Amino acid sequence: MLGIKTLKEHLAILPDDLATLIETFAQISMDMQTNFPKYLSGVENEPNKYGEAVAKLDAWANKTLCDNLLQTGLVRKIYSEELQTPVEGREDAPFVITLDPLDGSSNITTNNAFGIILGIYRSDFPQKGRDLVAAAYKLYGPVNTLVYTTGKGVHEFVKHYYEDGAVRFLLLHENMKLPIKPEVFGVGGKPMQWSGNFREFAKNLFKEKKMRPRYCGTFVADFSQVLHRGGFFSYPSTEGAPDGKLRLAYECAPLSFICENAGGASWDGRSGSILDVQIEDADARIPLYLGNKEVIEELKKTQGN
Ligand code: AHG
Ligand code: MN
Ligand code: MN
Repeated sequence: MLGIKTLKEHLAILPDDLATLIETFAQISMDMQTNFPKYLSGVENEPNKYGEAVAKLDAWANKTLCDNLLQTGLVRKIYSEELQTPVEGREDAPFVITLDPLDGSSNITTNNAFGIILGIYRSDFPQKGRDLVAAAYKLYGPVNTLVYTTGKGVHEFVKHYYEDGAVRFLLLHENMKLPIKPEVFGVGGKPMQWSGNFREFAKNLFKEKKMRPRYCGTFVADFSQVLHRGGFFSYPSTEGAPDGKLRLAYECAPLSFICENAGGASWDGRSGSILDVQIEDADARIPLYLGNKEVIEELKKTQGN
């Protein structure tokens, strides 16, 4: 059953500036969806700073989000996966933002789920994921959801269509916690390029722990199932890419912040939680392992840490 609380009402206990920023993000992400069919094919002429092809939808989502978020006057700087250099807003504005404007680009043509990842800080880098004042993700699936945390509970909202034509996010789940029993797992990259140790660990997830493999190729969607059903997600260090594929600031820090606030754990494969890694370079990649605490603890043991 849907709660009757709107996102706006839920945000009312936050400082006004933070509430307005999250509400604006939610509103833009809702409006954006109507335009998706216009940008389903084609790529930009230039690759992004990672050398990856930029889909028309990546470029449009990036511009739409940056323009609208800057317009609030609340944003001092935006770091985005799809920007060569950060874009500057008002010098005296309170927030610095990180954006993965479209997470799951390879799922655009196949009509599988994709989304957006947002990180909100009060200071500029260098800093840690633990310094996030809020993180949110938007997931465009058969229904459209928004999950956010400000470090005090993880809450999920769903886009709701009222009979009078109004559209609003309504509360779906409040104070979410990963279920105790881990049920699903998803791992990115090619299994033969994972380390032998990690391959063995992954095998035991289905062999011994009886978990189900579920991998969609969109981080927010793969994470959403861990949040709802309990489990494990990783884009590990691989032979050809020791730092993995996912981006520390744009992808890993915000979703690790949500995961840990929902009672889960994250690990960088080296020293500890993703949230304790100092972000010196906003464009850096990092190996990522997250999910139920006991699964992450077991992983640490088997990987010799
Ligand atoms: P993006 O679309 O922002 O580039 O992110 C794609 C990421 C992430 O969403 C997903 O977990 C991973 O790349 C999928 O990679 P593979 O296609 O290699 O599985
Ligand atoms: Mn992404
Ligand atoms: Mn992206």
